[in-house]
Amino acid sequence: MKTIIYKLGDNETNTDIITRAGNIIKQGGLVAFPTETVYGLGGDAINEASANRIYTAKGRPADNPLIIHICRINDIESIAKEIPDIFYTLAATFWPGPLTMILKKSPNVPLSTTGGLDTVAVRMPNHQTALSLIDASGGFVAAPSANTSGRPSPTVGKYVIEDMDGRVDMILDGGETVLGLESTILDLTGKQPEILRPGVITEAMLTPVIKGKIINTPLVINVPDKPPRAPGMKYRHYAPRGQMTIISGNEKAVVSYINNRLKADEENNLIAGVIASTQMFHEYQTEHKKCIGDRLNEEDIAHNLYRILREFDDENTDVIYSEAFADTGLGQAIMNRLLKAASYRIIEVNEASQKGNKII
Ligand code: TXA
Ligand code: MG
Repeated sequence: MKTIIYKLGDNETNTDIITRAGNIIKQGGLVAFPTETVYGLGGDAINEASANRIYTAKGRPADNPLIIHICRINDIESIAKEIPDIFYTLAATFWPGPLTMILKKSPNVPLSTTGGLDTVAVRMPNHQTALSLIDASGGFVAAPSANTSGRPSPTVGKYVIEDMDGRVDMILDGGETVLGLESTILDLTGKQPEILRPGVITEAMLTPVIKGKIINTPLVINVPDKPPRAPGMKYRHYAPRGQMTIISGNEKAVVSYINNRLKADEENNLIAGVIASTQMFHEYQTEHKKCIGDRLNEEDIAHNLYRILREFDDENTDVIYSEAFADTGLGQAIMNRLLKAASYRIIEVNEASQKGNKII
């Protein structure tokens, strides 16, 4: 398939291009587009064949449901039913923005879009290109992240092109996304709202609006008997090609452990990289180190994470070590993605034991 690629300015709404892109989606085709979180791979959410084409383009299992993107709050009534009041309060507060809400699905939405579930995930992205594309497409755009299944979500146009050129009809390259991590997913179909995927909209931001308890399971590491509530969360995700390990502990012990491992990897002719905070960057003895940002600036860390994982792939990195970060607030989303990228390999080090104890 020949993919048409357009470069757009940040948040640009070039009417001709958007109309063309919207027509492609209306006719059952696929368009990759920027949002404020990560790039999406969009198709008509109400067209069963489009959902199937999305799964094929991504190489994604068909039981992993898609998020429907809308551009007007009232459109929710066409795709969801028994909508609780709290949905409208949350939408008024956080939309357009990086919050996806799960509601009961209306019969209009084909089961292929929801991966066979009787619930539907909905969000309104805070990005002008995305909003005008959704409008031009008829109002309901199903869009997973625009990566090949299992790879880190693309936050830069060139990585969308790398994964999707030849697999979709059009790519709208709008430069680098602002937030860099996928939306928070909040399930509103249970007795209490539940965070299924942490993101930029944190529990602390949701609680005063919901005025009640939110279920927010801390970053549990693999609970084999409990099926994941967001089906996508069970798959290997966000992973770079190199084997990644998170090293947690005090600063001195982490630096010393990683430098020892770097030396051993070099002797084995492996390319070994480090994901480092600004604070510790200068300590690592390798040229393959990347600064993810200041520990005190979590927005920066979130923004840089997926791009760095992709850059390590570009450089054929065999092994990656990452510092660990605080896991509260936005840090919960950062650590959630890092742990998945590392297939939950995390090593706790401290000064007494430089060898490192595997804690998981
Ligand atoms: O920021 C985002 O959310 C991006 C941009 C493109 O909007 N989209 C995104 O989509 O991350 P995706 O498909 O990569 O992740 C959607 C997640 C999956 O883990 C999926 O299982 C979950 O949402 N999900 C979708 N519908 C669901 C439902 N009805 N119930 C539970 N989880 C659902
Ligand atoms: Mg994804």
